[in-house]
Amino acid sequence: MKICIIGAGYVGLATGVMFGKLGHEVVVADIDKIRVKSVNSGSLPFYEPPLERELRRLVDSDQLVATTDVQDAVEDAQVIFICVQTPSLTSGRIDIGPVKAACKIIAKALGKSNRRKMVVMKSTVVPSTTDSVVKPILERYSGKKAGKDFGLCMNPEFLQEGSALKDSMEPSRIVVGSDDKRASRELMDLYRPIKSKKIQTDLRSAEMIKYASNTFLATKISYSNEIANMCLRFGIDSQSVLEAVGMDPRIGPLFLKPGLGFGGSCLPKDVKALKDKASQEGYSSKLLAALVAINNQQPSESVRLLEKALGSLEGKRVAVLGLAFKGGVDDTRETRALPLVIELLGKRAQVIAFDPMAMANFIKLMPSIRYAPSIAECLRDADGCIIQADWPEFKKLGKKEFSLMRRPIVVDGRRCLDPEKVKRAGARYFGIGYGLAEQ
Ligand code: NAD
Ligand code: UGA
Repeated sequence: MKICIIGAGYVGLATGVMFGKLGHEVVVADIDKIRVKSVNSGSLPFYEPPLERELRRLVDSDQLVATTDVQDAVEDAQVIFICVQTPSLTSGRIDIGPVKAACKIIAKALGKSNRRKMVVMKSTVVPSTTDSVVKPILERYSGKKAGKDFGLCMNPEFLQEGSALKDSMEPSRIVVGSDDKRASRELMDLYRPIKSKKIQTDLRSAEMIKYASNTFLATKISYSNEIANMCLRFGIDSQSVLEAVGMDPRIGPLFLKPGLGFGGSCLPKDVKALKDKASQEGYSSKLLAALVAINNQQPSESVRLLEKALGSLEGKRVAVLGLAFKGGVDDTRETRALPLVIELLGKRAQVIAFDPMAMANFIKLMPSIRYAPSIAECLRDADGCIIQADWPEFKKLGKKEFSLMRRPIVVDGRRCLDPEKVKRAGARYFGIGYGLAEQ
């Protein structure tokens, strides 16, 4: 089948590579010339090595190609996946400008074609967007009718950055939402080779499943942060507490790791977008408001720990290790490193930072601090360090690296180091939710 993917981002490229691997002919259409060039040379515009290997293989065998000619790509395809970004406006409301723009181009191509096509909404959009915004634009600009002349589905994506390919090939579930039985059946057929649980719903339920999932993940993280913050003040190590909590099968062990809060391109914006949508419909969500508030305060926990160890941070050299929104990626969207560095600068600390992959992206957000070329250079002469992202290389830190510091004080903002190992290596260890009473 000929599949067109609109948007060469994480979701678009993971979806395109997944369908390519299933033997379909894939065209990825994007308005960003640099991204298109990168995809056509077999390189991803972001760091995701396993996905890149498969992309290169598909590009080399001409099974996947990228283009900036979005309309032409849509005209030629049987199924079109909309995978463009849906960021936050400053109010927290979802910005569906890119979705609307993509829909207009798709509609023009639908209008020109006499073959029935299927349009699949994969971008995360608040409930009612597909039937009250996407569908009217597609119908108006094509002169055709959804259900009769073209199919329309909502198919949310659940992948995590860092495991995009695996999550696309083996998703936890596939949700197909449609108000049109034929379209729903056709999309279910397309996904037949993927042996995951499949759920058929209406359009709005599919949209809501995505938000209900992401806000639940955000709730687990914020709950863990609250418990950890309390444990710290009670002189208890939150790790053993949360591990035991997670053993209850009704709770589960995943996403109970305390830290500096949830960052990334999705959890923060999706919490805000659902909260805004609920308030537009006259419902004020106290839970979602609390998630935003807890998340905003969390970077300060690590600064408080550092001050506890060092006193005033004025003039102190603070090394920040990890600038990506989590370890293993180069994405700095909504990274907690930004509020952390801003708070440190507000306390007149001298900040020096390092990340194995995300430094170039972070420099665009914060050009004014110093950056180190390696972990060792970042730690050299530092009065303390804060681990902001759980990169595997930070877990290996030992005597050799800590001995470079002027004062070997380690604040583990992601609870990714072994406290005993750090102490054996001669450094003082402070962690989010790690009992201060022991220090
Ligand atoms: P992204 O920002 O990485 O990529 C979006 C791409 O769409 C960009 O390359 C952009 O140039 C392109 N684009 C924008 N308007 C276009 C248009 N009119 N025509 C063609 N291309 C256009 O986005 P992403 O991270 O892949 O996220 C896409 C959607 O998927 C969002 O709604 C997001 O919430 C959701 N999502 C993302 C993830 C993730 O891990 N990143 C996971 C699940 C769901
Ligand atoms: C998240 C979801 O996990 C995906 O299922 C979803 O598809 C995606 O958002 C999306 O909609 O875009 P991702 O953004 O890749 O995926 O990031 P996560 O792995 O969920 O991590 C988000 C943030 O939470 C990171 O800053 C991470 O450090 C933090 N986190 C995660 C914790 O603080 N504690 C945890 O236990 C887990």
